[in-house]
Amino acid sequence: MPPSRTAPEAAAPQDRLDPSKMPRHIAIIMDGNGRWAESKGLPRVAGHKAGVESVRETIRACSDLGIQALTLYAFSTENWLRPVSEVNELMRLLGWVLETEIRELCRNNVRLRVSGRLQGLPPALISRLNEAVRDLSGNTGLILNLALNYGARQEIVDAVNAALASGGRTLDEEAISSHLYTAGLPDPDLLIRTSGEMRVSNFLLWQIAYAEFYVTSVFWPEFRKSHLVEAIAEYQTRRRRFGAV
Ligand code: FPP
Repeated sequence: MPPSRTAPEAAAPQDRLDPSKMPRHIAIIMDGNGRWAESKGLPRVAGHKAGVESVRETIRACSDLGIQALTLYAFSTENWLRPVSEVNELMRLLGWVLETEIRELCRNNVRLRVSGRLQGLPPALISRLNEAVRDLSGNTGLILNLALNYGARQEIVDAVNAALASGGRTLDEEAISSHLYTAGLPDPDLLIRTSGEMRVSNFLLWQIAYAEFYVTSVFWPEFRKSHLVEAIAEYQTRRRRFGAV
């Protein structure tokens, strides 16, 4: 037989992953939008806009890989300290993404949750979020958890107050966990931060007690499926001992 002229099919990046050792929940600190934009002589908001494509690709990749939950740190309680024009643009962008991506999210069987003090967000964004949560509620695939107006210390304070209000006099771990914004989700197994910074930045402080931390120097707007697969591959090499030997 003559040799085949068709090139052998390239291995998909995820083929190197062990399906039996996938993280159930991945949390991402999407950092470096501003620096990415500045490195290209663009305004900072151009970095946030470019970051939307990374969000899209990451959601699709997590769905394809059968990840249960993906939490994205989209806006922290500290981000209000940014210039008003940048905050407004971020809010507008989030609303626009929810409006334009809803069909694609539905096609990918994605459910939506929001973690944070929602009441502090612009009313139009709150309605859009509530609508999107409702529209996607019948899906059964990836849970996309958007951390918005989110701060982990505030979350713990809110959880403790809610647990006390529900009649608890002495609280245990379960009482607090079950009142966190993330109640019902598995704790993140893998926490990814882009742009090389080695900080936790008030993100999921309770839930990441035993998460594996992965930092990449890639700025968020350049983060692609191959980077996600790299992070998961590294996670799969870690020996998780949860404090035991
Ligand atoms: C951090 O980069 C990024 C943010 C504060 C916002 C992230 C938002 C998006 C990617 C927009 C779309 C999001 C969703 C969920 C649709 P930075 O501005 O702090 O970067 P820097 O450290 O380089 O200044």
